[in-house]
Amino acid sequence: MKIFGISGSPRLQGTHYGVNYALEYLKERDCEVRYFSVARKEIKFCMHCDYCIRKKEGCIHKDDLNEVYDNLIWADGIIIGSPMYQGNITGQLKTLMDRCRAIVAKDPKILKNKVGMGITIGGDRNGGQEIGLRTIHDFYMINEMIPIGGGSFGANLGATFWSKDKGKEGIMEDKEGLRSLKKTLNRFLEVIKNNIK
Ligand SMILES: Cc1cc2nc3c(=O)[nH]c(=O)nc-3n(C[C@H](O)[C@H](O)[C@H](O)COP(=O)(O)O)c2cc1C
Repeated sequence: MKIFGISGSPRLQGTHYGVNYALEYLKERDCEVRYFSVARKEIKFCMHCDYCIRKKEGCIHKDDLNEVYDNLIWADGIIIGSPMYQGNITGQLKTLMDRCRAIVAKDPKILKNKVGMGITIGGDRNGGQEIGLRTIHDFYMINEMIPIGGGSFGANLGATFWSKDKGKEGIMEDKEGLRSLKKTLNRFLEVIKNNIK
């Protein structure tokens, strides 16, 4: 099982820790993992130039997202994590999602049936974490992937953390958040195993 984890935070703090915690958990369960953080990366905006639609050769921009394209195509399962900014995912992550139009324009089925889950982190207890998860799930659905949550009684739509604006330390202290993450990861694994049988 090949898993690709993405952190949408411009810092190497809470989300970076949360996504890597998830990847370590999966590595211990027979998964091969790869990781990308938007931190300190060059990620240009989609300009709607339609180069990807006309040429079907990927994106006109040549920047740090090339690595993301390769890894999205490689993976059986994708984990996207983001801090909440103004009640939703970060601008960097949204740009990454927009830019995925390029690979889908080349092959509309390129992400089809890959399994996806989300991890969202807010400084506030109710700072948009569930809305952020829905944004991540929408990205999966639009690209014909299979979005999964963690099930009722603990995880619902996926993994949600309340960092209290304490970065990595805040995530480590949030026991309920870690419980929601593990519950979601178990469901993620279950669906991937079923999917690649
Ligand atoms: C521009 C900006 C907007 C933010 N907006 C929210 C918000 O709407 N809701 C919230 O709970 N936290 C908000 N925060 C706090 C971060 O989501 C929080 O500190 C998070 O844990 C940071 O994750 P990181 O350590 O991975 O960068 C905001 C932070 C910044 C810098």
